[in-house]
Amino acid sequence: MIMTRRFLFVLGSARPDGNTELLARRAAEQLPPEVEQRWIDLTDHPLPDYEDLRHDSDHVRPTEGPVARLLDATLDATDVVIVSPLYWYSVSAQTKRYLDHWAGWLRTPGLDFKATMAERTLWGVTVLAHEEEVVADPLIGTLNNSAAYMGMRFGGVLLGNGSKPGDVRRDAGALARAKTFFAREAPLARFAYEAA
Ligand SMILES: Cc1cc2nc3c(=O)[nH]c(=O)nc-3n(C[C@H](O)[C@H](O)[C@H](O)COP(=O)(O)O)c2cc1C
Repeated sequence: MIMTRRFLFVLGSARPDGNTELLARRAAEQLPPEVEQRWIDLTDHPLPDYEDLRHDSDHVRPTEGPVARLLDATLDATDVVIVSPLYWYSVSAQTKRYLDHWAGWLRTPGLDFKATMAERTLWGVTVLAHEEEVVADPLIGTLNNSAAYMGMRFGGVLLGNGSKPGDVRRDAGALARAKTFFAREAPLARFAYEAA
């Protein structure tokens, strides 16, 4: 099936022009021109802390401000790319707050957030200072399990190494993997206890 895909890149670093965005842009360069790309830096569109109203009153669809902007962009995307540095072995707080808002959107009447996102694809890009990539497993698990919960596909996480901005340019393996990252299959996500 030929379908126009629309990629939303959600940038969650606490600094501009960091390694994670650089690596994500290398991967995005390989997307065909007909694929739409939208880039949103959470620092430019700071989300308020998510307030858990799930069991008190109905969430109301936001109509303005950063939450509305992120919601509309998310609903519009066939592919959501979480571009987060590894912070304390997981996603950054900015990124986590964006994901927390998904819990509210799941409960917002009229959105059908889960049905809308089902079978769309979640991807991750991260850069970490640690040499051993295995320490990024919590971030990978967070994204895999979130995709599984949502009934989404999961394309996996593109990993790079670096500490100060620009370092990832020296990670030849990461740059090579970036070239084909978005071309890979993205199967429906499964929790580890489910049969593949
Ligand atoms: C708050 C904070 C937490 C971090 N935690 C980790 C970590 O748990 N493991 C790690 O390898 N690097 C950690 N780092 C290093 C960053 O992952 C690394 O500098 C990365 O290149 C930052 O990505 P950016 O350039 O896209 O901002 C941390 C950095 C910060 C600022």
